[in-house]
Amino acid sequence: MQHFIDINSLTRAELLSLMQQAQDFIVHPPKPVLQNQFVANLFFEPSTRTRCSFEIAAKKLGAQVINIDKHSSSLQKGETPLDTALNLRAMGIKLFVIRHHDNGVVAQIASALGHDCAVINAGCGTQQHPSQAVLDMLTIQQHKKDFSSLTVSIIGDMINSRVTHSDVAALQMLGVKEIRLIAPQPLQPNIQGTSIKTFTDLNSGLQNVDVVMALRLQKERMHKNDLPNQNDFFATFGLTTQRLQLAKPDAIVMHPGPMNRGVEITDAVADGQQSVILQQAANGVPARMAILMRCFSA
Ligand code: CP
Repeated sequence: MQHFIDINSLTRAELLSLMQQAQDFIVHPPKPVLQNQFVANLFFEPSTRTRCSFEIAAKKLGAQVINIDKHSSSLQKGETPLDTALNLRAMGIKLFVIRHHDNGVVAQIASALGHDCAVINAGCGTQQHPSQAVLDMLTIQQHKKDFSSLTVSIIGDMINSRVTHSDVAALQMLGVKEIRLIAPQPLQPNIQGTSIKTFTDLNSGLQNVDVVMALRLQKERMHKNDLPNQNDFFATFGLTTQRLQLAKPDAIVMHPGPMNRGVEITDAVADGQQSVILQQAANGVPARMAILMRCFSA
C-alpha cells in the first residue's frame, strides 16, 4: 500500500503515468479489481466534486465505500480524526480518502496509520490537493499536447488555494514555459520558480496565454477584515468575455470549483465555448481511479 499525500512526492514519470492511466480508463472501462475492498471517505470539510468522484471511482473499480459524516459520527463526541481512522482500520479498511481544513493533518494521519493501509489526500489546508492536480493536468493535456510551449494564468485567491500550490508544482514538473500568478498583492502566494511571474494587473497577465484558471475567494480561510469586497474584486479580477479575448483564441478556461458566478467569473465565460470546467469534473473520476489503483498496487 502507498499513501498519496503530496504532488511533490511524485516523479515526473509517475505523474505522467497517472495521467496516462486515467486517459486509458476513459477509453477502456476498468475491471472490478478492488472487489472485496473497502474505501472510507473521511471529509472534515465540505466537498462535492472530490468526495463524489472518489466514491464513483472506487465503486467502478469494484470497491465498497463508507462515507463518514462528521455530523453524525462519533467525531461529534470528541473523537479525534486519527482515532476514527484507527478504529476503521481495525475493522479492516485499507484505504482512506481524507480531506481536512488544517495543513499537515492528512499527512500526520497517514504517518500514524503506517503502510499496511493507504491514505489519499483529498485536499488539506491551503497547501495540497494532489488528486486535483492530476485531473487538471489531464484536462490540459487533452487540449494542449505540448506542455513545454504553454503559458498558464491562475487568477484570484491563490494564497489560500491548495489547488494553486498543487497545480503549480505539477505544471513545473511538466515543464510549462510560463506560469502567471494574477492577484492583488495580499492574495499572492509565496511560490518561487524560474517559470513563475506575478501580476497585479489582470489584463497584462492574460495577454496571449494558453490556459486560464479562475479561483474563488476562499472566505472560510480568510479573516473577516481581510475579505475583499466582492464587487471590487469582480471589477478588477473578474474573468469576463472581454478580458478573455486578451488570451489566445484557443485558450481554455478552467476552474476547480466550486464557482462563485459573478465574483471571479461571469456566466458567459463559465458556460462558454472555451470553458472546460465540466470536463475537469468528469476527469475527476478516471484520475481518481488511477490514484486508487496506484495506492493498492504499490
Ligand atoms: N475542486 C474541489 O475540490 O471541489 P470540491 O470542494 O467540491 O471537492
